[in-house]
Amino acid sequence: MRTEQPKVIYLKDYQAPDYLIDETNLTFELYEDHTLVHAQLVMRRNPELGDGLPPLVLDGQQLELLWVALDDRVLDEGEYQLDDSHLTLQPTARTFTVDSTVRIHPESNTALEGLYKSGTMFCTQCEAEGFRKITYYLDRPDVMSSFTTTLSAEQHAYPVLLSNGNPVASGAEEGGRHWATWQDPFKKPAYLFALVAGDLWCVEDSFTTLSEREVALRIYVEPENIDKCQHAMDSLKKAMRWDEKVYGREYDLDIFMIVAVNDFNMGAMENKGLNIFNSSCVLAKAETATDAAHQRVEGVVAHEYFHNWSGNRVTCRDWFQLSLKEGFTVFRDSEFSADMNSRTVKRVEDVAFLRTNQFAEDAGPMAHPVRPDSFIEISNFYTLTVYEKGSEVVRMIHTLLGAEGFRKGSDLYFQRHDGQAVTCDDFVKAMEDANGVDLSQFKRWYSQSGTPRLAVSEDFDAASGRYTLTFRQSCPPTPGQKDKQPFVIPVEMGLLDHLGNPLPLRLEGEEHAHGSNRVLQIDQAEQSFSFVGLQAKPLPSLLRGFSAPVKLSFPYDRDQLMFLMQYDEDGFNRWEAGQQLSVQVLQELVGQRQRGDALLLDERLLVAFRTLLQDNGLDQAMVAEMLSLPSEAYLTELSEEADVEAIHVAREFARRRIAEALYEPLWQRYQANREASRKTAYVAEAEHIARRSLQNIALSYLMLSEKPDVLAACLEQYEACDNMTERLTALAVLVNSPFEAEKAKGLAQFADYFQDNPLVMDQWFSVQAGCTLPGGLERVQALMGHAAFTLKNPNKIRALIGAFANQNLINFHRADGSGYRFLADQVITLNALNPQIASRLLAPLTRWRKYAPARQAQMRAELERILASGELSSDVYEVVSKSLA
Ligand code: TRP
Ligand code: ZN
Repeated sequence: MRTEQPKVIYLKDYQAPDYLIDETNLTFELYEDHTLVHAQLVMRRNPELGDGLPPLVLDGQQLELLWVALDDRVLDEGEYQLDDSHLTLQPTARTFTVDSTVRIHPESNTALEGLYKSGTMFCTQCEAEGFRKITYYLDRPDVMSSFTTTLSAEQHAYPVLLSNGNPVASGAEEGGRHWATWQDPFKKPAYLFALVAGDLWCVEDSFTTLSEREVALRIYVEPENIDKCQHAMDSLKKAMRWDEKVYGREYDLDIFMIVAVNDFNMGAMENKGLNIFNSSCVLAKAETATDAAHQRVEGVVAHEYFHNWSGNRVTCRDWFQLSLKEGFTVFRDSEFSADMNSRTVKRVEDVAFLRTNQFAEDAGPMAHPVRPDSFIEISNFYTLTVYEKGSEVVRMIHTLLGAEGFRKGSDLYFQRHDGQAVTCDDFVKAMEDANGVDLSQFKRWYSQSGTPRLAVSEDFDAASGRYTLTFRQSCPPTPGQKDKQPFVIPVEMGLLDHLGNPLPLRLEGEEHAHGSNRVLQIDQAEQSFSFVGLQAKPLPSLLRGFSAPVKLSFPYDRDQLMFLMQYDEDGFNRWEAGQQLSVQVLQELVGQRQRGDALLLDERLLVAFRTLLQDNGLDQAMVAEMLSLPSEAYLTELSEEADVEAIHVAREFARRRIAEALYEPLWQRYQANREASRKTAYVAEAEHIARRSLQNIALSYLMLSEKPDVLAACLEQYEACDNMTERLTALAVLVNSPFEAEKAKGLAQFADYFQDNPLVMDQWFSVQAGCTLPGGLERVQALMGHAAFTLKNPNKIRALIGAFANQNLINFHRADGSGYRFLADQVITLNALNPQIASRLLAPLTRWRKYAPARQAQMRAELERILASGELSSDVYEVVSKSLA
């Protein structure tokens, strides 16, 4: 907890470390009521700095210091200083050794940072600044050391003892205890340290690298989960092969381990050679995990594996550079997933997520650049901006340089900086040097926050056959940044003729046309591009593949959008045209509702959807994506002032009209796909996933008809399917239906059958948390009393409270403010238990500026109440105070 005024840390204050740690030798004695940590640090003065010997200031929090020695001499109390976050001592030579023993309490650590217990297992989470809760250390990423770690624990309860690197020795001790020593030859910052002790089983496999080295692969889980590891293992091997092929990167140790734990603040952690995962990102099998969960496992396993190069071998100089590893690694994992599955579907999912969530963050009080300039609590900066927008920034470099140029740049980056802790500037410099280009203006993407707007207008001169597109960019002010300089915005585009054919693209001044798809580089506030040699006015297709994270606007009418939906060469832009059409139609309904007019859906949306459903040649996953209306959260993000109730009513009205008008083709598609699912055993592969996604969206529309045939089909799917993808959708559809008896029975059966599987129970909580029927808050409150719910497990909090506040907008934003009060109560409780989770949970309240004055006042009042609730963690304090500012 915070005792003094929280300190703001600035990037501009960065200073190299006074001292370096060459070797770290750790011994952990794990007991049920405490743990002893002995650390030996072999240190020296940083040779890059001056001759003097400044005091050595080690980081340490919540540690009970038993003794400390300098060069083997135990220090008296007067020879060092202790405060609640540092141990300071005075070295007397340029090289020296510091030894210390501290006592810590993993058994009562509910913050899940440092060393803690998840169930009966000991595990660690050190990123970003958790190592200082384990021992006194220079806990900063630019201090890189080799590590040797010995763990000792009771043999029976903790048969498995793991740490980073290779196992080098082990043995038995007196009194039923045993020990093991691990050595990690690669120098690393403390945030990549890990240990695990527990009663774990493992699935084993092996991988032969490009240079024919044999690597042992092990996934450790609690015994009851041993049957749910195969998908993660397959994903790992695919990721290892892909990184060799696409980036030329091989794995470097003889063993790679993944451990699944139930209590984890985030998705997973890339500790060197010993990744620790939220069990939700490892465990997957047909009966218990949905298609989406399978794909998440594949993506997260790859993400953490890819960090071995982008993060571990080359790490961050300081935490302001977080996107150096996270943005790059998200880009790498999304390209991997695109190669393993459907590229267009993956892009659609990522873009929908970015525009709904990161754009909202960038427009809110916590907006910050991809490389922030300051923070109070670094845990608050593991954000959508650093991860997702950071990945878009790397993607733009890839687009500007092309695949080959990008590979030259990444080769140079890895070669130049292997073993170093570097900055985003170093990354861009490698890209520049390898390609002979200047990216200095492009780097504004790292320093300027906010989502740029790009307004496009057209002009056609029939006499000369010249078509001109004019781009005007602007960026709204964000906290601490009033005026913005123009960004470099790559706009991938094409032109279509009146039959939908791609037109050859010839810019004024060019001798010939260059293909029908190209990237325009916008780098000024206003800029025009003229295409010549056109017989008639073309229709532009802009920002193909979402080539830049901007809000592009072009005055398309609905007929043009329908045309693009059908004819654009670019699959992503066909989806995008459908989204824009849906947004226009829904916004029109919102307006009708606000004026009290009768709701009237533009029939063109129905025509477009019917065309999609009747085309059997289309990728079914894309049809499913295109039939999905923009979410209420996205419509909120697009609104100047969001009318929660009108948005909900408009969208529900549109869904019912679609279900009514397209009942026949939906029913046909549903039955054909369900029939195919019935005949095939579950496989988590693209074509099967596509079939199920169309089947499931069809079912969710059909159920709105409330016809007995559909209810029967839903129950048949629920009961007879062999997988969680079909079962969970059937349950979700039931839960949102008026069929009370069937709903109650389904929910009870499900909970009864899966009560011992926490990840499945998370899905059961989520389905109910997302039910938009009236009474949502009461249902969530009642579920908090369920035996399977606990505030100590982050997955449970996300599944129930997080899903309610983020996805059930109509219930969370109830007019009496009770949803806000409920969320604030949970934040106040969690602030003391788990500050990182408390701080993330409160994000929906920080968006108060989006709503009408009455709701604004209620949301602000809850933020004020949190602020006044007592000792706040730096995590919660930073988010609450910034969002009230
Ligand atoms: N580096 C992790 C990743 O791959 C992020 C992470 C895992 C993390 N656990 C954390 C960040 C705890 C902060 C706190 O993205
Ligand atoms: Zn990461």
